[in-house]
Amino acid sequence: MKNIAVLASGRGSNLEAIIKNIKNGTLHANLACVISDREDANALAIARDAGYKALYLDPGPKKTWLLPEYEEKYVTTLQDHKIDLVCLSGFMRIIKQPLLTAFAGRILNIHPSLLPAFPGLEVQKKALEYGVKFSGCTVHFVDDTVDGGPIIAQAAVPILDDDDADTLAARILKEEHRIYTEAINLVLSGKYKIEGRRVIKTG
Ligand code: GRF
Repeated sequence: MKNIAVLASGRGSNLEAIIKNIKNGTLHANLACVISDREDANALAIARDAGYKALYLDPGPKKTWLLPEYEEKYVTTLQDHKIDLVCLSGFMRIIKQPLLTAFAGRILNIHPSLLPAFPGLEVQKKALEYGVKFSGCTVHFVDDTVDGGPIIAQAAVPILDDDDADTLAARILKEEHRIYTEAINLVLSGKYKIEGRRVIKTG
């Protein structure tokens, strides 16, 4: 069984879904550790309560990313736990060096829009303001762009006339919990190839 780590800064509902799917046998992975840049992250409490290793790692002085010497601690911790795949889930830091190189092609992120539409933050609000009729979620590989790496899985949801950012976020979240597991299974299986930006199943 391959080892995954979840990196999360907040609520942890995707982590909860990952744990549930590991327990019910639909996600074929061992959750070796959960790491947060926030000591009070609910995700750490979820991990601890479920009996998984939960670690707070000091993010250092920067607000949106980690200085190399702080990110290095993330790398060594992931290596110490023999992590095969790093799953970002609401981890509010831009990934840089040395993590990107140490885990090249082995970091996934989930984003609550149909990328490349609406990268960044507050994206449900942006989708409503723009007036799109569908939004959704995307699981993608992490590279040196923000929300810009090759797309592994997406799911679309309709936007209803009476939606606000919260009702839309809830509809999208349900799909996030489903497709993150599918994407992790695919990447861990190794049965895919990347041609240009396209992630193509081979199995
Ligand atoms: C999710 O909407 C995810 O797409 C985004 O951050 C949110 C994290 O939610 N990257 P949770 O912590 O998994 O509940």
